Amino acid sequence: MRARGRFAGPDFAEPPVPWTDYASAPPAGTFVCASDAVMSVTSVEVTSPNGALPMILLRKAEGLRAYVNACPHQYLPLNYRGDQVLSACGTKLLCTVHGASFDADSGAAVEGAPCGLDPVPVKEENGEIRIAP
Ligand code: FES
Repeated sequence: MRARGRFAGPDFAEPPVPWTDYASAPPAGTFVCASDAVMSVTSVEVTSPNGALPMILLRKAEGLRAYVNACPHQYLPLNYRGDQVLSACGTKLLCTVHGASFDADSGAAVEGAPCGLDPVPVKEENGEIRIAP
């Protein structure tokens, strides 16, 4: 397993890696946030004994989506330069640094990035969102 630090140096050609390769990946069951904190798009920092993992969560009609909040280009949070990270049509997440876009449903790169966002499995139960096994 490659240990990928929170903002380890970018490797533009590096393919997406599993979220579990981040050194700060929280274990299954870790509390992410309250369900009502995610009405549209929310960024949170999930803390565990492994450290703090920045995540971005998106609530859609089809369900909840969660990704590591680090663009694959510079490893900056998508909301680094502002909170408008969802496209007007609601189908793309945007990196506010240089406008790269990602499919909101899958995290796949749409334009301007070498690869997609790293999805994180989450489950929602009893008004809480937690890391899924
Ligand atoms: S700086 Fe975020 S995708 Fe380029």
